[in-house]
Amino acid sequence: MEIIIQPSSEAATDIAARIIARLLREKPGAVLGLATGSTPLLLYKKLVGMNLDWSGITTFNLDEYIGLPREHPQSYHTFMWENLFRHVNIAQENVHIPDGNAKDIPRFCSEYEDKIRAVGGIDLQVLGIGTDGHIGFNEPTSSLASRTRIKTLTRQTHADNARFFGKDEAVPNHVITMGIGTIMETRQNILLAFGKHKARAVSEMVEGPVTSINPASILQMHPVVKVCLDEPAASELQRAEYFRWVYDNKPKWQEF
Ligand code: PGA
Repeated sequence: MEIIIQPSSEAATDIAARIIARLLREKPGAVLGLATGSTPLLLYKKLVGMNLDWSGITTFNLDEYIGLPREHPQSYHTFMWENLFRHVNIAQENVHIPDGNAKDIPRFCSEYEDKIRAVGGIDLQVLGIGTDGHIGFNEPTSSLASRTRIKTLTRQTHADNARFFGKDEAVPNHVITMGIGTIMETRQNILLAFGKHKARAVSEMVEGPVTSINPASILQMHPVVKVCLDEPAASELQRAEYFRWVYDNKPKWQEF
């Protein structure tokens, strides 16, 4: 894991945007894995502003609520089209977001995995992290070998996400999420985390044992993971000074 600590979420996002922009320029047929939530909002805004060519890019989103209409303001379909896709020249048929209204969910999930395989796998996956250490919606105790499937949100995630919904609106309990095994097959991951409320989950992910209690900790076993943090999210890392030292002393050819 490469831990990149920046003075602000803006600066941390800038690094992620530069890495993704380089991939899109170097590989016009790249396959991106994308995330939703508040964390990647600025990333998508920056990517939109970079005038990149998305015509050959394929995307797969991590997750979606089950039972929420696609047009609902809080569906991840709406989120992705509003915040990224409608601002770039991506082909609609190259966008993949789990269908939370699929009639046969297990079948949909297995076909989602087939589609990822059929395009040669995901080159770069964008990840956030939940306050409970989830990646995608793989909640604590998720199988570290899991594939795309239905999950029930924990009460904590349910409460964390309720802020996006209206006061009297029901927050779905169930989601479709790529599995941890699915995420572990991507070629590269960039995980973004901002704010003090993420600090514990981040320190457990980076410095704790690999455990399904903090599902993100499995990323210790992935060969290419960049973790882009602001200072508050890095505030519980015991080895923060070491991570800063590594970053400040990167060989020229390794710089972003
Ligand atoms: P957030 O969610 O970006 O809204 O903090 C992150 C996540 O739950 O993965």
